[in-house]
Amino acid sequence: MAKTKTYYFCSECGYQSSSWLGRCPECGKFGTMQEEVVQAAKPSASGKSHSASSASKPKLIRDVSTSETQRIPTQCAEFDRVLGGGIVPGSLLLLGGEPGIGKSTLLLQTALSIPGKKVLYVSGEESEQQIKMRADRLNGERKSENRESECYVVSETVTQRIFEHVDEVSPDLLIVDSIQTICTENIDSSAGSISQIRECTAEFQRYAKESGVPVLLVGHITKEGSLAGPKVMEHIVDCVLQFEGDRNYGYRMLRSLKNRFGSTAEIGIFEMQGDGLREVANPSEFLLSQRDENLSGCAIAATLEGARPMFIEVQSLVSSAVYGTPQRNANGFDFRRLSMLLAVLEKRCGFKLGAKDVFLNIAGGIRVSDPAIDLAVSCAILSSNVDIPISPRYCFAAEMGLSGEVRPVSRVEQRIAEADRLGFEKIFVSKYNARSLNKKRFGIEIVEVSVIEEAFRNLFA
Ligand code: TYD
Ligand code: MG
Repeated sequence: MAKTKTYYFCSECGYQSSSWLGRCPECGKFGTMQEEVVQAAKPSASGKSHSASSASKPKLIRDVSTSETQRIPTQCAEFDRVLGGGIVPGSLLLLGGEPGIGKSTLLLQTALSIPGKKVLYVSGEESEQQIKMRADRLNGERKSENRESECYVVSETVTQRIFEHVDEVSPDLLIVDSIQTICTENIDSSAGSISQIRECTAEFQRYAKESGVPVLLVGHITKEGSLAGPKVMEHIVDCVLQFEGDRNYGYRMLRSLKNRFGSTAEIGIFEMQGDGLREVANPSEFLLSQRDENLSGCAIAATLEGARPMFIEVQSLVSSAVYGTPQRNANGFDFRRLSMLLAVLEKRCGFKLGAKDVFLNIAGGIRVSDPAIDLAVSCAILSSNVDIPISPRYCFAAEMGLSGEVRPVSRVEQRIAEADRLGFEKIFVSKYNARSLNKKRFGIEIVEVSVIEEAFRNLFA
């Protein structure tokens, strides 16, 4: 009979201790230690143990052949873009996201559309019938395209059983829907607990590395927005992808937070429709088409997410504060950055910070991290403040400095070229960016500004 023991695990970093501690010595957080009953490992009677048994020897790096590491394309351009060109064999990927955002849909859709590859889709959350129902729905219109993969589904929660199925099917790709529902027989705590998540992730990692079969794990997200389970999980896996979006809108963004085989700057954009997720190849056009009237408080930012230009609308509402403390709210934009911009505007443009409520919204439920959106945010606020609209045919691409200077941004030519292509009349950029530009190349008028007052005068004087 295996011996049971109680351990305490830090829910933040996975630190293990035999006694309870108020403060985790590893990460320094208070009150994060949780009790778990852990049973010592049984000798594994069934299933192959994927332990360090493979005979790997040190090799000269120039002798390591890379021909085997042909990436598996997912047949979804947006997903491939985020992965850096397909799934790397032997890699372990983690896809996180809030409940109902579409993680299962994305992975099942992927599983169904990789031609010529065997995919095993393991779900700990849904039964085979439920998966089938979803697959039928996803396949509704796609049937004719005849690019179905060999997709096996199974509802299973124990890793040892999963590896038995794997041995039977020998898939080219393994998908496990939600690591939080999977448990291993080797330890005896409940599924979803820190020790279980850690151990199961490690088992899948060993399997992936030894067999060369990539494993895609789904992970849940906690209320605070981090991946449920300790940080150690993020360290083990090769890629951490996050699926996000506002549930009230159909648009979803896939970002990579960590990627050992590609850039983390790339994003993929999808739209959730009745029959699954549709790729959005040209985000600017749909984000901008929603505007027809000339309203104050709107400005268009020429941002770049990864290598792709994305034109988004910034909306702002400035009104007199009725209560003593003015309210501030930012949707899709960093709140502290908004406070900074407001302080700059107060100092430079006579914007009375203390007397105004300021609300800011990025249209389409999109979250932007490109600093080049600053100038558009500032101009939207000023436009709402003076109640003079900015033409929807103007766009902005510059960062703001603390002293009100308009700073240059990266790859400005690409932004200008895209603005030109979309038919904008004017683009506002930093003077320092414009210096090295060959303006004759573009039909669009390039307005150079060096301080925010200049942009203010140009737009509203
Ligand atoms: P799901 O993939 O189950 O989310 P997750 O696995 O991240 O929890 O997606 C759930 C939502 O997606 C659900 O609210 C309904 C919506 N949906 C569609 O709009 N169209 C579809 O074709 C499918 C399958 C789901
Ligand atoms: Mg799901």
